[in-house]
Amino acid sequence: MGAIQSLFPTLIYQAPLQSKAVATRELNRQLLREAMQFAEDDEAGQRWSDRNYPGGYTSYGSLCRLQTVSPTFARLGQLLGRHIKRYARELALDLRARELVMTDCWVNIMPAGVGHSLHLHPLSTVSGIYYVRTPPSSAALKFEDPRLDRFMAAPPRRADAAPALQPWRTVRPRAGECILFESWLRHEVPVNQSRADRVSISFNFNWF
Ligand SMILES: [Fe+2]
Repeated sequence: MGAIQSLFPTLIYQAPLQSKAVATRELNRQLLREAMQFAEDDEAGQRWSDRNYPGGYTSYGSLCRLQTVSPTFARLGQLLGRHIKRYARELALDLRARELVMTDCWVNIMPAGVGHSLHLHPLSTVSGIYYVRTPPSSAALKFEDPRLDRFMAAPPRRADAAPALQPWRTVRPRAGECILFESWLRHEVPVNQSRADRVSISFNFNWF
């Protein structure tokens, strides 16, 4: 039998932001307080969310560089730095000439019944999400095989196919964890089936 190589992988990174649970709780408490405050005060964001994020609040269209506005979000950006480095190393990105820098950082508050349909993050290299509050049955993140539009007449995959061979995968993060992916990878957030708000912070790192 001949050899089979697995080429062109799609890497998804998931890790606790920091090792100390106390520090994570304190950071999340502060991020949550600020996120709720933005949702209350940010009228431009509320209008943008009404049109583009029905039922929820996101600061993507109004306050999308929170790392420059709030020391708490700036701190989050610093803490993410080491994860970005590790992920970039795994991807073998040659970053000797320029490094990846946080360019965008915004808040998402998703009440019961709200989801976020398939999208990717343009003008970015590495994107990700940090989870502030993840009520039970609310926290999934679904990734789609980036080659799906080329499959044409291909048969479906068996339900018991290995994770790497499935056409989409759902990742279930916990509060205090970050997930990183390459910005071209399409993803969506299934509807929040919990009664409590799901609160996350999305971000982009870029190298130009
Ligand atoms: Fe996203």
